[in-house]
Amino acid sequence: MAEAVSEGAEITVEKDRSGSGPGGLPLRGLFRTHVWPHRASLAAGAVFLALTNWLTVSIPGEIGRSVDALQRGLPVGGHALAIALMGAAIIVIRALSRILIFNPVRDMEYRFRQDFFAHLLRLPMAFWVTHRRGDIVSRAANDIGWVRVMVGYGGLQALNVSLALGLTGWKMVALSPRLTLLSVAPIAVGMAVVQWGIRRFIALFRRNQEQLGEISDHVLGSLQGMATIQGFAAEDAFTDRFRARNLDWLRTGMRMALVRSLAMPVLALSGGLAVGVLVAVGGAMVHAGTLSVGELTAFVALLMVLLPPLRSLGWLVSVAQRGRAALERLLEILQAPVPEESGATAAAATPGSGPGIMVKGLEFTYPGGAAPALEISGAVIPAGSMVGIFGRTGAGKSTLLRLLARLEEPPPGCLFVDGQDLVEIPLEAWRRRVVLVPQRPFLFSETVTFNVALTEEPDMERVRWAVGAAVLEDDLRALPEGLDTLVGERGVMLSGGQRQRVALARGLYRGGDLLLLDDVLSAVDHATETRLVETLEGLSGGPGHPTVVIASHRLSVLQRTGHVLVLDRGLLVDSGPFAEVVARPGPLRDVWLARRAGMADGGPVTGEAAS
Ligand SMILES: Nc1ncnc2c1ncn2[C@@H]1O[C@H](COP(=O)(O)OP(=O)(O)OP(=O)(O)O)[C@@H](O)[C@H]1O
Ligand SMILES: [Mg+2]
Repeated sequence: MAEAVSEGAEITVEKDRSGSGPGGLPLRGLFRTHVWPHRASLAAGAVFLALTNWLTVSIPGEIGRSVDALQRGLPVGGHALAIALMGAAIIVIRALSRILIFNPVRDMEYRFRQDFFAHLLRLPMAFWVTHRRGDIVSRAANDIGWVRVMVGYGGLQALNVSLALGLTGWKMVALSPRLTLLSVAPIAVGMAVVQWGIRRFIALFRRNQEQLGEISDHVLGSLQGMATIQGFAAEDAFTDRFRARNLDWLRTGMRMALVRSLAMPVLALSGGLAVGVLVAVGGAMVHAGTLSVGELTAFVALLMVLLPPLRSLGWLVSVAQRGRAALERLLEILQAPVPEESGATAAAATPGSGPGIMVKGLEFTYPGGAAPALEISGAVIPAGSMVGIFGRTGAGKSTLLRLLARLEEPPPGCLFVDGQDLVEIPLEAWRRRVVLVPQRPFLFSETVTFNVALTEEPDMERVRWAVGAAVLEDDLRALPEGLDTLVGERGVMLSGGQRQRVALARGLYRGGDLLLLDDVLSAVDHATETRLVETLEGLSGGPGHPTVVIASHRLSVLQRTGHVLVLDRGLLVDSGPFAEVVARPGPLRDVWLARRAGMADGGPVTGEAAS
């Protein structure tokens, strides 16, 4: 274990030198929380490992002594029994040492993965814009495994190999320094070849893993776009693209097999060569009387004992390199900053009363965005009111709502909640107060109930209330198992409008004093819309009620809100009561007039037009 740990310590030093910032890598913390609690088991495992090695190198000596006893015509029963007992003890003790070391390491992996997942869920949305989800999943799956191999297998083998090489080498030198020197040369050459083979093999293995990742990406992407593939008769094209990837994978696999079968046996071959040298030179020494037959036998047996740890040494180097790279990649994510609590105290939310919001000189550009997505010099959303946001597509409606929900981090001094700067309100506290129902709601592949309550132990009465308020009851009656219906992957079993209303029910279930609804009424018919707006009016409209902000293209919805903000290409171009705004020239009036003209021409009477 000690080796694996010092391996880790090395990384800290290196990273610190490369200037990864103050604090370096949290390896010391990881060691304290993940490794230290297992110290007893790990130490016992190390002791057993040492015992195994001591027994292993003792057997060749015993063989040598029994050969010498045979030559002198003495009984060898005692030696035979000792060898048998040592062999049996090795099996038991080795198994114990592995259990004592590998089990804690599995536990470390379990806890590390748990921490990793919890950390992923806390990373800000800005992180997910710049990182591919597939890559993160592969890091979680493969890299954590590689770190475990480095710590578990690597740690065990580091100890094992040093003990085995030390003890065997010492016994060999004790028997004959000359023979030891002679056997080193062929073995060193063999080691070099094997080391090359292992490095090559691991590189190929890594490539193979990546190719497997590409294959799963392709399968996943194709399955998700199944309707498009079949609808456009693109099956053959997709099969061909798949074949290319699959073929790459096959070629790498075959090269792996080649490297493995050519390079790996070289060590056994060089071991054989060394034995040949030993028999030739050692035989001459036996004839000259400087070495006994038993000693030569013991020497050859020791050489055979030496080969497996040597092979492990080759793997060890590669495993350590690979594990280290994996650990660095994982730490890169683990160190990605999560939004910190500012420590400032939140202005106590008046129970039940929605906050008033003030926007002042807000300019927001998405990370990597060329131009600001939003520039608002001043706007007010009165406490407890219901405010509509109107704007053509891409005007910045969702951006404003996401900033209010702090899914994007607003610049300081721009957004004020009841007079307090939004960024000074602790994030957790703010998230408890605000509910954002997004434009493209995400449903989990679970039951309707779970999707509404997002917990395994829902308050069923509240679920039923939320579902009713979101005008979902009729739809649920048509589902095979009502609230217990599994909605399929991302809610495929539901219509677009039903999905929107499940998301709305989720928002209502959670509740909060600021309700942000991003275009959630875009896919419902006029009658449903009317009922939903009535629900929202019931929630809002006066002191003691939440503030409701609705982004919508629908004039009929906006008309029911007390106040409308009009955005155009990121700028706030107008605001005020609907009747006033619609009377002034601007985007809202344009749409209003277009609808009226559509109706006069006998065009389709949509929800908007009917208003
Ligand atoms: N994550 C993002 N990264 C970079 N730019 C973004 C991102 N999301 C939105 N934008 C850009 O910000 C601008 C405003 O987008 P936003 O989604 O706020 O518009 P919207 O008014 O909600 O439009 P719609 O009515 O189509 O929903 C657009 O130009 C868009 O391209
Ligand atoms: Mg939008």
